Formats: sequence, structure tokens, C-alpha cells
Amino acid sequence: ETGVFKYYSEEEWKKSSSGKTVGIVNPTTRKTQFKVQACSQAEVNKVMEIAKIAQKAWAKTPLWKRAELLHKAAAILKEHKSPIADCLVKEIAKPAKDSVTEVVRSGDLISYCAEEGVRILGQGTFLVSDSFPGNERTKYCLTSKIPLGVVLAIPPFNYPVNLAVSKIAPALIAGNSLVLKPPTQGAVSCLHMVHCFHLAGFPKGLISCVTGKGSEIGDFLTMHPGVNCISFTGGDTGISISKKAGMIPLQMELGGKDACIVLEDADLDLAAANIVKGGLSYSGQRCTAVKIVLVMESVADALMEKVNAKVAKLTVGPPEDNCDITPVVSESSANFIEGLVMDAKEKGATFCQPYKREGNLIWPLLLDNVRPDMRIAWEEPFGPVLPVVRIGSVEEGIHHCNASNFGLQGCIFTKDINKAMIISDAMETGTVQINSAPARGPDHFPFQGIKDSGIGSQGITNSINMMVKVKSTVINLP
Ligand code: G3H
Repeated sequence: ETGVFKYYSEEEWKKSSSGKTVGIVNPTTRKTQFKVQACSQAEVNKVMEIAKIAQKAWAKTPLWKRAELLHKAAAILKEHKSPIADCLVKEIAKPAKDSVTEVVRSGDLISYCAEEGVRILGQGTFLVSDSFPGNERTKYCLTSKIPLGVVLAIPPFNYPVNLAVSKIAPALIAGNSLVLKPPTQGAVSCLHMVHCFHLAGFPKGLISCVTGKGSEIGDFLTMHPGVNCISFTGGDTGISISKKAGMIPLQMELGGKDACIVLEDADLDLAAANIVKGGLSYSGQRCTAVKIVLVMESVADALMEKVNAKVAKLTVGPPEDNCDITPVVSESSANFIEGLVMDAKEKGATFCQPYKREGNLIWPLLLDNVRPDMRIAWEEPFGPVLPVVRIGSVEEGIHHCNASNFGLQGCIFTKDINKAMIISDAMETGTVQINSAPARGPDHFPFQGIKDSGIGSQGITNSINMMVKVKSTVINLP
């Protein structure tokens, strides 16, 4: 049975006056699982209008009260972990256990954000004028952090709940109002999560969730004059949003082509475990997934043997059965992945496993002896396919990593910390992990990409600071 879900505005669940809906296809069954409202531009205008009004009152709500409501929402979200996880399983084919983890992690993120918010927003600075040449001590400057206004949050399909709350919670604690545009796959999970905020009792109009087609309301939302900040996670759409957006703060987390450099002295068991987990968990559909292995030729055979032994143990099937590898999010995504695989095949990559696909389900595949002329050496499959390039020197590895348009994270496996630090300095990425796979969490760590991987820095503290502006009041003495 196909459930039809309403959108959320003014503390109410509403049907769109467009009379249209958008179908959400279950990646496993490839049948329409849910339908959500196709909101109109007029409905977006209305949501923006009420968000602006609600924000003014919210900014005056004491910080501790804002925090209290967030803690309440976090607790309710955790209570609802099972039904929300069920939605994630059906909408995005995330393995059942990982779906529960996503919801629990989101509750923890909201609580941490509330605690961090009361600390960092509870402090301002005090400056005196006579430290700058030519000034007497006649000016006292007091600064505080004020909200930006209306924050537009656009999370991606792969973490519809977690990457929504990582935007919602900092925005709200900082005194902003929030308009959420969920991804189509993941929209119902998002609506359920918003329901938890609703139950927590946030004021009317402070949070809205509009669903619909990107082609109808995407640009309209991101270019809307009522939006004072955009926090987006996703693919290249983020680049076009950045070009079209007005003069407002942007937080963008886009793609990645995270390299894993394995040196001759690496613990190969550790490296292999991290390559498999880092590259293939959630079927490689993570921006921080290991997306290319750059291994020193002398240890490549030994590493590949260990990696392939682990790949052979991965279970492949439906998310309900907690399989390691589950169907990728859509048929077009599976087709794109297949295109990269075929290109690598034509150009002579070594297939460590046979290529196998049934519907959206693609079996895990390691491609050895990948060369720079293959698309998969540079493009992100966002699927369970991992290319391996054999390198003759560390410099070659660093060069490959830095030649990418992306610069999200990278990782190095070596027992020599001095070497690791030198390589880390040389890698043009927002984060380098030493002896572990790339990952965004723990969620209070700074998280940022350079080049086409993004704008700004996330992580709880950075997101709160990004969603405020410094306001100065200067007392001038006679
Ligand atoms: O897909 C992008 C996410 O920000 C990655 O988060 O490292 O927790 O999987 P993760």
C-alpha cells in the first residue's frame, strides 16, 4: 500500500493545493512505496513568510529554553527510532541496523548541539580601544552572536535524518527559524523526524518542511529572498546553488573522492579492514567513503589478497536482512555506476570479482590496476565499486589525491607517524585520517571539504558559529 504524506507548515500537516504528489520508489522492490506532496511556489512563499515572523519571537526566547526544547526533540526522536528506521530501510535501502544507528546518532547530535549552544552562544567578547595605535581607552566594544534569520536546510538521500538534524539543531539553538527541503528518497523519514520536533512543542511556523520536485521548487527555494543562509549536503547541485544564491552564508558539503594511501610499512590487516568498511559500507553511498585506494606496488598483492578475502564475506541482499551490500538508491544511480565499471573494463582494469547486478543491487567489486585514463580513477561511483591504483612512490599517491577536483577527506596507513604527518600536510583535503578510514563523525569534529567538496566547515560547533553573525555594540566614553 502506498502511503501519501502531507507537508508541514504552521504546526499543521497539509495537502498541497497543487493536487500533485511525488512518488518515492523503494530501491529494493523498485515499486512506489510512498508519495509526498508536490508543494507549489506559492506554498514556499507562505512558508518563508511565516518562518520570518516566527524567527523574530524565537530569537527572544531564552537560550536555555531553546536548549530545553531541543533536548525534548532529541528524546522523542530516539523513542521513534524504530518507525523512522523502517522508513529509511524502505526509502533508501539502508541496512536496518544502520538505519537505527542513524536515528540514535541524530538524537545525540541534537542534545550535544543544545549543550554546545548554551555554552558558546552564552559568551560574547569585550574589547577596549587603546590596544590599537592612536586610541585612548575611550571605547568599549561588546560582542554577541545573533541569529541570521531563516535557514534553508537541504540534506541528501544518504543520511536524510542525520544530515537534516545536523543543520536543524544548530540553526534552532542559534535562534534561527528553519525551512527543510528533504531529498525525495528520504522525504518520509524526514517528515517523521519533523513530527518529533512537532511533538516537542516548538512554536508555530519555526520549523517547516516542504516536499516536492527540485525542478518546481528547488531554485525557487535556494534563490528565495526570504532565505538568510543555506546549508546543503549533496552532489554537484550544490555548485549551481552556490552560483545562483544571493549574498548569504553558505554551508556546502558536496562530493568526495577520498583517497586511501597505503605505505609499505602499513598494518595491512588494519588497512584492509578499513578499505572494506570505509569503501563499501552502505554500499559506498557516503561522501566520505574510500573512493580510491593508492597502494605501494611492493605491498599491493598482499593487501589485495586481504581485501578480497573480506569482500568475499560481505552479504549482499535486502536492507531488511541487514545485508552489508544493499540496492543502490535508484536505477539511474545503478546505471551510472555500471557506466564507470564498463569504462574501466574497456580500458583494461583487473576485475577482482565478476561484475554482477540485479535491478539496483550491485555486488561489491574491487577494480585493480586502475589507471588515470579511466573515469573511475576520478569520478565518484557512489556505489559498491572501489578502484585500486598501484603506485611506485608516495609522491605519486599524493599527486593523484591532489589532482582530484574533490578535497573532502583522505587517509594514510603507515606505522611511521612522522611520515604520516608529512603526507597529511601535503594532501589537499579538509581532513586526513591516519590509520583509519575517512568519516565525518564524531559529530562535533570539524568537517569540511576544499575545492569542489564544499564551502565552510561543519561539525556541531562550526555549524552553530556559521549560523550566527557577530553583533558589536560600542560604548563611547566622553
Ligand atoms: O555522505 C556524507 C556524510 O557526511 C558522511 O558521513 O562519514 O558519517 O558516513 P559519515
